[in-house]
Amino acid sequence: MPGAVLLVVATGAALIVAFLLLFCIVAPLTSPKPLALSGAHVMVTGGSSGIGKSIAIECFKQGAFITLIARNESRLLEAKKEIEKFSVNDKQVVHFISVDISKDCAHVAKVLKQAQEKLGPVDMLVNCAGTSVNGKFEDIDGSKFEQLMAVNYLGSVYPTHAVITTMKERRMGRIVFVSSQAGQIGVFGYSAYSATKFALRGLAEALQMEVKPYNIYITVAYPPDTDTPGYAEESQTKLLETKLISEASSICHPDHVARIIVKDAIQGKFFSSVGADGHMLAILTSGMSPVSSIAEALEGVIFMGFFRFISLYFIASFDSIVRRCMVQKEKSEKTD
Ligand SMILES: NC(=O)c1ccc[n+]([C@@H]2O[C@H](COP(=O)([O-])OP(=O)(O)OC[C@H]3O[C@@H](n4cnc5c(N)ncnc54)[C@H](OP(=O)(O)O)[C@@H]3O)[C@@H](O)[C@H]2O)c1
Ligand SMILES: *[C@@H]1O[C@H](CO)[C@@H](O)[C@H](O)[C@H]1NC(C)=O
Repeated sequence: MPGAVLLVVATGAALIVAFLLLFCIVAPLTSPKPLALSGAHVMVTGGSSGIGKSIAIECFKQGAFITLIARNESRLLEAKKEIEKFSVNDKQVVHFISVDISKDCAHVAKVLKQAQEKLGPVDMLVNCAGTSVNGKFEDIDGSKFEQLMAVNYLGSVYPTHAVITTMKERRMGRIVFVSSQAGQIGVFGYSAYSATKFALRGLAEALQMEVKPYNIYITVAYPPDTDTPGYAEESQTKLLETKLISEASSICHPDHVARIIVKDAIQGKFFSSVGADGHMLAILTSGMSPVSSIAEALEGVIFMGFFRFISLYFIASFDSIVRRCMVQKEKSEKTD
């Protein structure tokens, strides 16, 4: 008996010491001061459709001035009109620029400079323009890998490159990279897409370390499947395996996803995720990414091992989906 009591006391003491140590390590963490969106200039790439448009609306509702960036002018104009309905004061405006953000860094810098001359320096840049392709690795055309990396990765680098110097001079700013749950786990059919979304995470971590002393905060958002025009288009050619695996998480409304992204960006959180599964993935994949609060640090320390345990169940079930699909296909090929 005394042995057991001693063990409990020792474990308790060890836990308290560990907690105090952790507290000392993370205590100097000052959570960033929230960014006020009223009167701020928010620039949204991919702002003419889906999640990007919903993000622009959410910011506009909070009093921001908006610049939308995309290629198709008629869709940009439609989006501008839709967003303007949500104005909260008569000074607010929505500008738009038609440019391909994936092509020419110097050209992107030039047009973004013009936008900043109109509405003032960018306070928050949301890199949301993106595209996807679903298919087996060998069936995806080589040029498609290049195109996806250009739009999803370089298309986030170029606009960021265009605004970062001014942000550092002003010692303020927010930059959002819209990744995907497929940027946290590699999923069947997304070999080309996942890689571009993982790339954003590396960029974000390195950049965050550089710009934090300048009071600039980076947010990486990992949306689940979201009901948008882009999603509808991709669904038409989606592999059965991808569909079955994606059923592990539900489909979200873009307004819901946008509200969470904007809230997290305002608070300067490094991770932005949606729903219980999104939260679990964020903790599971947090690695050595920056922490923005003590609560977040503690949560990670306590739950990471447990979530790894749960993930084993999903890994096994995904494996069995892939095997089942293969057996089925081989059977149907034989009977043909
Ligand atoms: N929907 C989902 O299920 C989901 C899930 C996870 C992550 N995401 C990510 O969230 C982001 C938004 O997705 P969404 O489904 O809302 O997209 P969407 O409805 O397909 O809209 C894409 C937006 O990006 C713009 N765009 C595409 N290529 C561009 C280029 N080269 N230059 C400039 N603008 C470009 C499009 O306008 P133009 O075509 O006129 O240029 C449009 O405004 C993407 O990065 C996507 O990967 C989406
Ligand atoms: C732009 O979008 C509109 C509306 O979706 C479409 O009808 C038109 O063909 C598009 N233009 C180009 C150049 O893709």
